[in-house]
Amino acid sequence: MMKRCVLVTGGAGYIGSHTAVELVEAGYDVVLVDNLSNSDEQTIEGVRRITGIEIPFEQVDCCDREALEEVFKKYHFDAVIHFAASKAVYESIEKPLMYYRNNLGSLMTLLDLMRKYECANIVFSSSAVVYGDAEHLPVTEQSPRQAATSPYGNTKRMCEDILHDTIIAADGAMRAIALRYFNPFGAHPSALIGELPRGVPSNLVPYITQTAAGIRECLNIFGDDYDTPDGSCIRDYIDVVDLARAHVVAIGRMIEGRNKQNYEIFNVGTGRGVSVLELVQAFERVNNLKLNYRIAPRRAGDIIVSWADTTLANNELGWKATRTLDETLAAAWKWQQVLMSR
Ligand code: UFG
Repeated sequence: MMKRCVLVTGGAGYIGSHTAVELVEAGYDVVLVDNLSNSDEQTIEGVRRITGIEIPFEQVDCCDREALEEVFKKYHFDAVIHFAASKAVYESIEKPLMYYRNNLGSLMTLLDLMRKYECANIVFSSSAVVYGDAEHLPVTEQSPRQAATSPYGNTKRMCEDILHDTIIAADGAMRAIALRYFNPFGAHPSALIGELPRGVPSNLVPYITQTAAGIRECLNIFGDDYDTPDGSCIRDYIDVVDLARAHVVAIGRMIEGRNKQNYEIFNVGTGRGVSVLELVQAFERVNNLKLNYRIAPRRAGDIIVSWADTTLANNELGWKATRTLDETLAAAWKWQQVLMSR
């Protein structure tokens, strides 16, 4: 059978690069597109080394219609996975227009070109941010979406709507799956690719590994007086390779016509809530080190508790997170050590 080809936008990024590896290992041809605004060509080299394949890379901004159209002319895509987006919550509050322009614009340009070049299938990177502070936990795909506390969060909700409306208008000619990620962490077991935060990390796990490495002096734990068992916030931490595999399964579902609706949504998490303090303690135990941390005031805009009901993804996609918290915390630390030796 002819190999299917998948366009991965944001393919030099954290989740995009891990997904590219899993796609190749599942037998797909892959083309990576990235504007390298928040990523590195070394990541592409890492993907090529892991897979042993000279995966094509096009340095293109997905908002640049002409440049992106050249990519569609050059290859034939059976599906697209759209990761390319700006993703820093605080930056989005300072630069809302940049976020709306990038995140909505790139999706709209892509959908337009997909119609023109008859590419029917798209997986979109959505986020648990759309649930906000949910009333009932764990959150299911039916849980109501809530107004976001940042323009970044708004773009995820608006992109879901753009996708939904476009799929309806295509009247059977297109299919989409939105994956709502919980909190991705960790790195590929080879330690050839992983997360590459620019500047001071705002996410918990890279902040932990940088503190353990001595790059940051002390981890601030934002709040220990929440209404949770140990007072710190609770999240659903999902291994980045497990998350990548969810994309491969979603692509297969659409290409093989196993989707039940033309637009589908799935939570991608483990189904388990872990507190910040639990995560820090697990990191210390697994990697046999002491982390310098202190309790700091609450961080504005933080959701208190969030974890996924993954029943739908388990039953419909046949996907389940497989890696343990300990394994992934070990992989995150291994990756940080590789980064330090670079
Ligand atoms: N935290 C700390 N100290 C830090 C960093 C984070 O205590 O230095 C805490 C936060 O207060 C929060 C938890 O660790 O309780 C997780 O924080 P992250 O910033 O890692 O993740 P968030 O859940 O806040 O945000 C993530 C993504 C967003 C996305 C959101 C959706 O980073 O892009 O999930 O739920 F919008």
